[in-house]
Amino acid sequence: MTNEREAVETNGYFRNWITAFGLVLMASSALGGLLITIQEMIGGTSPYSGILYVIATTLVVAGFLLVPVGMLWERRRRKYGGKRSRALSEFHIDLTNPEHRMGAATLLASGVIVVVLVTVGSYQTFHATESAEFCGQLCHTVMEPEWVRYNDSPHAKVSCAECHIGTGAGWFVKSKISGLRQIWAVAVGSYARPIPTPIHDLRPARETCEQCHWRRKFTGYKEIVRSYYLSDEENSLHKLRMLVKIGGEKSGLLKGSGIHYHMLIANKIEYIATDDTRQEIAWIRVSRADGSVTEFNNQDAELSAEERANAEVRTMDCMDCHNRPAHQFPTAMHSVNTALEEGTVSLALPSIKLQAVNAIDGDYANVEEARTRIASELRNFYREEYPEVFEAVNSDLERSITKIQDIYQTTVFPEMKAKWSAYPNNIGHRDSPGCFRCHNDQMESATGEIVFTDCSRCHLILAQGEDIETVNVNFDTGLPFEHPEDGEDIEDYTECVDCHTGGAETYE
Ligand code: HEC
Ligand code: HEC
Ligand code: HEC
Ligand code: HEC
Ligand code: HEC
Ligand code: HEC
Repeated sequence: MTNEREAVETNGYFRNWITAFGLVLMASSALGGLLITIQEMIGGTSPYSGILYVIATTLVVAGFLLVPVGMLWERRRRKYGGKRSRALSEFHIDLTNPEHRMGAATLLASGVIVVVLVTVGSYQTFHATESAEFCGQLCHTVMEPEWVRYNDSPHAKVSCAECHIGTGAGWFVKSKISGLRQIWAVAVGSYARPIPTPIHDLRPARETCEQCHWRRKFTGYKEIVRSYYLSDEENSLHKLRMLVKIGGEKSGLLKGSGIHYHMLIANKIEYIATDDTRQEIAWIRVSRADGSVTEFNNQDAELSAEERANAEVRTMDCMDCHNRPAHQFPTAMHSVNTALEEGTVSLALPSIKLQAVNAIDGDYANVEEARTRIASELRNFYREEYPEVFEAVNSDLERSITKIQDIYQTTVFPEMKAKWSAYPNNIGHRDSPGCFRCHNDQMESATGEIVFTDCSRCHLILAQGEDIETVNVNFDTGLPFEHPEDGEDIEDYTECVDCHTGGAETYE
């Protein structure tokens, strides 16, 4: 009798409250996961389903772990003379009993289902956390600037993960760990505003960009046509048509090998930046295909031997120029030019170019305040300065105001302090240093050479001014650049950023 009783006592370890709770937790969260999946199949994915899957999967696993924990605890309790727990005391299994056999089979089957659900759950979690919606919308305020700009970029159909994570288990784990750190930063509100750029441990371009863009494939010219509206009363139009020499190695069309020269496999350019945003460059080393090596030092910011030894040397890749392939924050000057060209901001309004740029570059606490003040200040300006215009083209004014408010809302993010000046675009050199970070007259080699600054080695101006339809130029030199501000030619190296900021300050 006693023997039989003891056997029952040891066999019944699973009869305790912890194990019971574990089983219930497991079953219910698995059911929860199933419901989310059904909901998704009917209602489509939401940015939150990723996090729900994470929670459901975690709970199933937690429940599963509680089962043996409870049993161990129960064994220990009984060893020290505790009475068997009354949890599930009605519940015992006798496999000779057909009803019990049925029960055990059911239990086993549900176990299998749980395993399947956990697997599907983890898979779904993986997918959901990789989706652009998950990355861009989950932490709404934090990611809003990147998300909004991304959706307006040439890469809007490339998922965040494809550039930020790439393939391979190592990067996956790395990104998820850094993701957890970011969730923590959001939870306690400790994230930086704006989010710092560049991303220092971004996956190398060779493994991301170059999966789709092949570096030997860059040949020829890229044509750029711009319409600039000036700050005068007439919003005078000055157009520019030019060819940017993007050609690569084999391009016989070009003198030299073109911009993607930097990227040719046999050439290597390394540099040291003295600031976190890599805008100030102090040292460069070129290792050319023919084996020659040249170092350049910025005469205005020469590094000491010690600084040189301790600095991080970066090898130039796509991101050093294309740092905004998916999150370009266009300048106010650029957005307004585009809107005037499209007609969404009306040219019938005198000085609207200047007024609109000033409005977008105003100092506002949040989007609501910006929208209200942009509208009231523009209405006041035209009511006071141009009363006849205010009456005559009021609907044009209202339509233009809406567009200007929208430009603000989609390119400036006051809560995150994100806008063009926080995220300079390294392509070009007008509103931020860009190419002129290295191509400037202070960057000298030991023999006094500089990294060239001749305008026509990077681009050829075909036509400019009012008429850009007819072209008659020498393809070696193109035309000298006629500065729209005063009509003077700019042919020698000039720091455009001394005056240009992309916003209101340009006009000061
Ligand atoms: C085509 C490639 C690409 C895609 C797609 C992409 N990014 Fe980026 N992202 C970049 C590059 C390049 C940078 C700048 C890195 C640098 O300068 O080091 C960046 C920077 C960022 C930054 C840092 C702040 C900044 O603007 O520099 C955040 C945050 C970010 N991306 C989030 C996202 C999110 C969220 C998505 C998807 C909605 C996404 N990215 C999609 C390439 C991409
Ligand atoms: C998944 C494939 C894919 C990846 C990864 C990718 N791109 Fe692209 N990229 C494209 C496609 C497709 C286009 C053409 C879009 C179009 O013509 O509208 C494009 C266009 C571009 C353009 C021309 C944009 C323009 O305004 O015409 C540049 C520059 C560019 N990509 C740079 C990059 C850089 C830099 C990276 C890495 C950070 C990158 N791409 C990663 C697919 C990709
Ligand atoms: C030295 C700066 C620089 C580097 C480095 C660079 N690019 Fe470019 N790339 C440019 C410029 C400038 C253009 C012309 C685009 C413009 O002016 O809008 C361009 C154009 C492009 C285009 C558009 C071509 C077209 O025909 O429209 C793609 C795609 C591109 N680059 C991809 C890459 C990739 C991928 C890498 C890395 C392997 C890379 N670039 C490295 C400066 C650079
Ligand atoms: C990190 C420094 C750096 C940056 C940034 C940089 N370059 Fe360069 N670039 C160089 C160096 C160094 C050389 C090679 C000079 C030499 O070989 O003597 C070079 C060479 C070139 C060439 C010459 C190709 C040839 O064979 O004729 C072109 C074109 C060019 N760069 C365009 C650009 C453009 C456009 C940008 C901006 C989008 C840019 N570079 C940004 C450092 C830079
Ligand atoms: C190292 C290469 C390089 C040199 C040198 C260079 N540029 Fe550029 N420039 C570029 C690139 C790249 C762009 C960007 C095209 C774009 O906006 O997509 C550009 C854009 C421009 C634009 C259009 C600006 C805008 O924002 O619409 C003008 C004007 C211009 N350059 C004038 C000059 C003049 C004048 C010189 C000589 C004093 C010069 N550039 C020297 C590479 C260069
Ligand atoms: C001494 C100051 C100064 C310098 C330096 C300067 N600019 Fe300007 N630029 C201006 C001003 C001011 C305007 C605005 C004129 C207006 O709208 O009435 C302007 C207008 C322009 C415009 C027309 C912009 C638009 O959207 O209406 C272009 C393009 C331009 N500059 C290119 C350049 C380039 C490229 C460089 C460098 C090679 C440069 N500028 C250097 C002061 C300067």
